[in-house]
Amino acid sequence: MSNDSQNTKKTLLSGVKPTGRPHIGNYFGAMKQFVDLQDSNNCFFMIADYHAVTTVQNKKELQDNILGVALDYLAIGIDPSKSIVFQQSAILEHMELSWIFDCITTMPYLMRAHAFKDAEAKNKEINVGTFNYPMLMAADILLYNPDIVPVGQDQKQHVEITRDTAEKFNRIFGDTFKIPEPTILKDAGVIPGTDGQKMSKSYNNTIPLFATDEEITKAVMKIVTDSSGNKPMNVYNIHLPIYNALHGETASLDALYEANAGKYKVLKDALVADLIAFIGPLREKRAALEQNLDSVKAILKAGAEKAKAVAESKMTEVREKVGVTL
Ligand code: TYM
Repeated sequence: MSNDSQNTKKTLLSGVKPTGRPHIGNYFGAMKQFVDLQDSNNCFFMIADYHAVTTVQNKKELQDNILGVALDYLAIGIDPSKSIVFQQSAILEHMELSWIFDCITTMPYLMRAHAFKDAEAKNKEINVGTFNYPMLMAADILLYNPDIVPVGQDQKQHVEITRDTAEKFNRIFGDTFKIPEPTILKDAGVIPGTDGQKMSKSYNNTIPLFATDEEITKAVMKIVTDSSGNKPMNVYNIHLPIYNALHGETASLDALYEANAGKYKVLKDALVADLIAFIGPLREKRAALEQNLDSVKAILKAGAEKAKAVAESKMTEVREKVGVTL
């Protein structure tokens, strides 16, 4: 029995970019799945710190953010005795493989990536790292042979690009990479922010996952209410995942919203109370872990050693297939 279950265990890899505080969109879109999946899979959870350098270009801020994601992972329940938690930059093979992928990918193909198109539409000056971002992400994933990559809806295209890139490499150099599947949490979709757009640090519309009670209240009061239907959907769509996390996946908020139709203040107060009930214990756990940063750093070091063994072996195979070994 135990042998069977070991043989059927799948490999899973995912990551979070250390660009600031995580929000409840990150949690319900991806991080919650990490915790749910770690018992039945071989898991790699990465801190995508080189991805963050596309936007965070300040030493202290980046260092704080990296340790911050490590604390976040541990506080939500990722268990380093079950899962490998590591820093992307500790494994140089990510950069090496991403260069090889750059060489087999065309510019017009990468120009179709949503993140690039969004930045271009906003007339942002786009750095080369942002343009090549999906290639580094493909390397992150393919080095570890994962079967599944749990991500939020907004990262689905990146996993599709990873699949295309693996197929292209396999076609050119011979069968090397396993083709991974994205896993989007059912019904999680895109968690909206306080303005109804996708919750995102870059839109300034987030509810931080470890927010203080004051921050929670302030963010909820900022939610733009839509008066066209009888439910304020921007409130409801944030409330539902929180409510389900507290009361079970099938619990329904409909009775509360129907009984209080049009009473936006009552509904927002109910959302604040549920957010506080949900976030409070997570915040306490994170604060306790923060008292011992040395042990957090030791977890990252041990994780990097295990991740490196896997990445090195894959990269040895890749170098041979490409022809740089004589
Ligand atoms: P990042 O750090 O932007 O987001 C981390 C995870 O949170 C999900 N997410 C959301 N889900 C639902 N609703 C939202 N409003 C929302 N906002 C964010 C994201 O989909 C993501 O799963 N490129 C990745 C990091 C990365 C990675 C990887 C992930 C680098 N390499 C390899 C998986 C595998 C990113 O920027 O995630």
